[in-house]
Amino acid sequence: MNTPTRCHPHLGHGLGLRVDHYEAILADPAVPIDWLEIVTENYLVPGGRPLDYLERFRARYPLVMHGVSLSIGGADPLDRRYLRDLCALADRIEPAWISDHLCWTAVDGVQLHDLLPLPYTEEAVAHVAARIAQVQDAIGRRLVLENVSSYVAYHASQMPEWTFLAAVAEAADCLILLDLNNVYVSAANHGFDPLDYLAGLPAARIQQIHLAGHSTGGALLIDTHDAAIADPVWQLYAEAVRRYGAVTTMIERDDAIPPLAELLAELSIARGIAADAMPVQAAA
Ligand SMILES: [Fe+2]
Repeated sequence: MNTPTRCHPHLGHGLGLRVDHYEAILADPAVPIDWLEIVTENYLVPGGRPLDYLERFRARYPLVMHGVSLSIGGADPLDRRYLRDLCALADRIEPAWISDHLCWTAVDGVQLHDLLPLPYTEEAVAHVAARIAQVQDAIGRRLVLENVSSYVAYHASQMPEWTFLAAVAEAADCLILLDLNNVYVSAANHGFDPLDYLAGLPAARIQQIHLAGHSTGGALLIDTHDAAIADPVWQLYAEAVRRYGAVTTMIERDDAIPPLAELLAELSIARGIAADAMPVQAAA
């Protein structure tokens, strides 16, 4: 059996890097951000302005590469050109780690631009684990995979989502990016207890946490990333820190991007919750 471990450094509390905030971050050397997560696909270019900016950020911050189009759960062959481009960017910016989503995003060569859930079956565990092994060989490091939100379920599923995620991580010896907003959204949509989700994951494989906002669409919660983090998601964050200890955390805002100060205020709340919830070490 593989030894589960967070093999990467603890980076603290960071933000998703968005173009709207480039200048505000670069203008203030004391801005309280510990690290930045980039959307990989925005920088898979041979040169030019995006990479110039990225190198300026890299000079000041640890960076993490977060992809959206690996389609690790898909049935198409892995995109070797995409993996080559991923490696070239990783060589250039030396990210702390590389993440993507536990989902499928393409079929018959067509990118669907959506993070679609998998059926939670033993067959899917084996399928995804074999593909993760190929990716980890290609990138020469462990992959970090994120749970996606979902709005539909498959009749074929044989296990809860958290059991599937844990089984994939164990089988592939990869790490987990736990998006607590996605857990909350899916729990509301499918009617499970988010605390069961947290309890069902291998703590030592949780490399990173995402915090984000959501919205309501009819009877469903939608993972829109366009709003402040909701109170129940903050409560889940406290529970996650109590359960897993200090985990590298970031705030992910993708739409209705507010001024940087607003996200820094949320980051400060996250730091406070993490400090309060950290398990107290027993005295020697
Ligand atoms: Fe996320």
